[in-house]
Amino acid sequence: MAILVTGGLGYIGSHTVVELINSGYEVVIVDDLSHSEKFILNNIEEITGKRPIFYPFDLKRKELLTQVFEAHQIDGCINFAAFKAVGESQEKPVDYYENNLFSLINILQEFKSRNISNFIFSSSCTVYGQADEMPIDENTPLKMPESVYGKTKQMGEEILKDFAKGYKRKVSLLRYFNPIGAHPSALLGELPIGVPNNLVPYVMQTAAGIREKLNVWGNDYPTEDGTAVRDYIYVVDLAKAHVAALKNLMSIPNDEAVIDVYNLGTGKGSSVLEVVKAFETANNVAVPYQICDRREGDITIAYANADKAERNLNWKSETSLEEALKTVWEWQKYLESRKN
Ligand code: WQD
Repeated sequence: MAILVTGGLGYIGSHTVVELINSGYEVVIVDDLSHSEKFILNNIEEITGKRPIFYPFDLKRKELLTQVFEAHQIDGCINFAAFKAVGESQEKPVDYYENNLFSLINILQEFKSRNISNFIFSSSCTVYGQADEMPIDENTPLKMPESVYGKTKQMGEEILKDFAKGYKRKVSLLRYFNPIGAHPSALLGELPIGVPNNLVPYVMQTAAGIREKLNVWGNDYPTEDGTAVRDYIYVVDLAKAHVAALKNLMSIPNDEAVIDVYNLGTGKGSSVLEVVKAFETANNVAVPYQICDRREGDITIAYANADKAERNLNWKSETSLEEALKTVWEWQKYLESRKN
């Protein structure tokens, strides 16, 4: 009995693989290494004492994916593999639709033909767009996301709903808010590939002197300090939610159609400047910044009502913003040590 984890050497994927192994699951990773590096596999083994089975190929290679399903008894999948840069998705829409949707459909073809259930999908709060009310719960109406990246997440959810209904399978759509942090061992974290799009990796690199200053994209939002508010959830808490969602699905008989949707966040909003301040306080470092114009497509505020996950999955976020930001700095120091 194995769990297929696509994108399993990526940021959230690698943390989830660790939690799956710690919970006794056998893991099969497929990752094309386009946004990850092979040393992460060694670090997973160092943390858990187990080396997951790993296949380095692109999920669009249907014939290679079939061979994985023929070689292993796959009983569930956690699908992380996707391009996820909001800005890049606007410049390369066809690449994003092809990569994010074709890879998903290839997996579902195997699930369909082999009568496999238990599919966990990495979705995002971006499917809500700018919600009218806070906190955001799972009944909040969806809005067409502005970014192609966000649209691929919303389309992925629709494909999975029809898959569950059409073939009586069980799916769980996990809508992440803003994942941050690194593993307590400092052996896993958000790999800096190019200029970071997201706030916390950019803050980390600014504190490390790699970036001169953090650009704060707008301080004229209708929020307490004028900067945009998000719900920053610690990546290990998020990884544990995936294991809880999988356990929940696998506890339900396989011939049932199940479509679960969960918001995964802390339930607390933090502004950009609050994150900067928390990072400086947690790590006793300075993060120089300058206020710039708003970034196109950004929303003002988003934070979760995560009560449903607490009720149904017996899961809740347990790590404070400061604790999560401390792990980021330890990860940066590990990355620097690797260079020496
Ligand atoms: C957070 C806040 C920025 C960088 C996106 C996706 C979401 C998820 C996470 C993909 C915003 C501000 C940022 C910077 C800044 N999945 N910011 N200076 O845009 O909320 O969510 O990434 O990974 O699906 O939509 O995250 O970290 O980019 O931005 O001021 O250099 O920080 O304007 O207000 P976002 P983010």
